[in-house]
Amino acid sequence: WDTEVLKSIEDAKNLAGRSGRGLLPVCDSGEFLGEFRILKEPVELDWLRKACQISAEAHIETMKFVRPGLNERQVQAFLEYQFKSRMSPRVAYSPIVASGASACTLHYVYNDQECRSGDLLLIDAGAEYNYMNGDITRTFPVGGKYSQIQKELYDHVLSVQKEILQMIKPGIPFNSLQTRAVELLTAAMVELKLLKGSVSDLVRNLTYKKYYPHGVSHWLGMDTHDSGLYQVNGESRKLEPSMCFTIEPGLYIPHNDESAPKELRGLGVRIEDDVIVTEKGYENMTALVPKEISDIEKIVGTKT
Ligand code: GLY
Ligand code: MN
Ligand code: MN
Repeated sequence: WDTEVLKSIEDAKNLAGRSGRGLLPVCDSGEFLGEFRILKEPVELDWLRKACQISAEAHIETMKFVRPGLNERQVQAFLEYQFKSRMSPRVAYSPIVASGASACTLHYVYNDQECRSGDLLLIDAGAEYNYMNGDITRTFPVGGKYSQIQKELYDHVLSVQKEILQMIKPGIPFNSLQTRAVELLTAAMVELKLLKGSVSDLVRNLTYKKYYPHGVSHWLGMDTHDSGLYQVNGESRKLEPSMCFTIEPGLYIPHNDESAPKELRGLGVRIEDDVIVTEKGYENMTALVPKEISDIEKIVGTKT
């Protein structure tokens, strides 16, 4: 289509000589349409809630299903069956089912390795419903119990996720979520002995990107990464009721990172929920999926 559109513009230009008319202004409609999509209508919120509910129920069922020896692909098949059984027509995006060190590959798509006891499993997946999309990540132990170091890493990410969620209310700038997430995650990196130095230096020099190389949030809606500007007139957009987005901090320590404490190498954790901004704060549309360690440990592998 790009070729077709560019060719049409070129053809119109070439007509100018004969018709005497120049080319009419050509604007990118994405910006206008994006504005319509940032604030959701009540009915759109209901469809999005439903997409999130389907996604959440499927994540829960899949947590119960996982056990050592399953292939990531079998886990993916089970998860997608759960989506479709609840009348979701499509996945929101290709599910990420990443066990062990694959969790450190942000958009891991192979989903073809065996899930091993002792490893964590990161599942980032969402269902579509009425053209709206869920986007949930949970990271849980294949064998049902987190090791001590896995717990430590997980607890850091979970407490950052909770703190960022608590910030959400009308009036705060969207980019303050990422700024705070970066500060908190960098402090965690220092505590975990991944980095040395002052948090402010490590943030200023972007050193933190080694273990947290993505954003904490994106608009959510008809696209998983929904359209709409994040800045207006050079300033971060302020949150308003009916905006919908994810909150998804993570920490990822590559398996071959010789500067990291050995026990942390190859661990990756992300926790992602989907929210609507309300008059006073926010609604978490995916709160159904357990994220407390004790709640997760109670259900992993319990499906008979
Ligand atoms: N699964 C894509 C994202 O979380 O942004
Ligand atoms: Mn996301
Ligand atoms: Mn995601």
